[in-house]
Order: sequence, then structure tokens, then C-alpha cells
Amino acid sequence: MRTDKLTIAWQEYSVNELNQSDKLLVESAKETTRNSYSPYSDFKVGAAVLLGDGTIVNGCNQENAAYPSGICAERVAIFAAGAIKPEQPITAIAIAAHHKGHFTDIPITPCGACRQVMVETELRYGKPIRIILFGESKIMVFESGINQLLPFCFGADSIK
Ligand code: THU
Repeated sequence: MRTDKLTIAWQEYSVNELNQSDKLLVESAKETTRNSYSPYSDFKVGAAVLLGDGTIVNGCNQENAAYPSGICAERVAIFAAGAIKPEQPITAIAIAAHHKGHFTDIPITPCGACRQVMVETELRYGKPIRIILFGESKIMVFESGINQLLPFCFGADSIK
């Protein structure tokens, strides 16, 4: 028998410490929370994905009275990017959430289904996606991509 363990690595920044490109992506995610359709939760999530050619594609959560029919901001953005520029890799995603009149203090982290879609996207383009999570008190950056948030994931290799 052998015990093993994993270490998760991320960086924490304040807004002022972010580089210009990350700042822009975060601002874009924050701005997109305004378009959220979330009459049931009033939890407005915005996502901004950066493509290889510099294009930014946005998404926000879309809810439905039949709850499971709704979809998270991250998947709206990633699927929209795939629909608009399927040839371009997604290199980064920024996520922000607005609730009860303000942006969350602590960053929100993507749900399991969105993490799974990020795994598929990384494998599809063969590139890690930098994940930038905005909170008023700190910004978390996962430089090496979704493997930090979804270890032991199921992907295309699993069904070969
Ligand atoms: N939501 C997202 O859009 N992204 C996340 O990372 C977590 C949750 C949405 C789903 C639902 O519309 C609302 O936030 C409350 O869960």
C-alpha cells in the first residue's frame, strides 16, 4: 500500500497587480454579469474567454423555470467561442459573479459540469486554459489550467 497526494497551485493577485491583458479580461467578465438572465437565483455570473487571436468572447448564466434547462456563464462563453471561431484555441477564461448588489468578495469557482467542458476544450486545442477567478478581496489565477481544478478527470483518452 502507498499513499499519494496532490498539490494544487494557484496565484493570488489584487486587481492592480494584474497585467493589462488579464485586467481587460476580468473587466469584460464583470461587465457581462449585467446581461445575466437569472430571475430565479439573482446570482449574476459573467465569463470572458480569450482566444488565440486575441478575440474576447463573453457568456453569462441563462436560467429557466425548468431549472436544469439553464446553463452557466462559463459554458455559454466556451460554446459561443466554439460556434464563432472554432479554429481558435481558448487560452484563458475570466469569471466574475455579482449578487445582492455587489461582486462577490471571494472568487466563485466553476461548477463540475463547466470544469468538464474546460477539460474537453483543453484537449481539443492541446493547450491549457489559464483560469482567472475574480473576487473583490482577491483574484485567483490557475496558470496551468483545469488540471488544478479537476484532477483525475475523464477525457477523450479514457475511452480510447
Ligand atoms: N453559475 C454559473 O453561471 N457559473 C458558476 O460557476 C456557478 C453557478 C450560475 C448557475 C445559476 O444560474 C446561478 O449561477 C446560481 O447557481
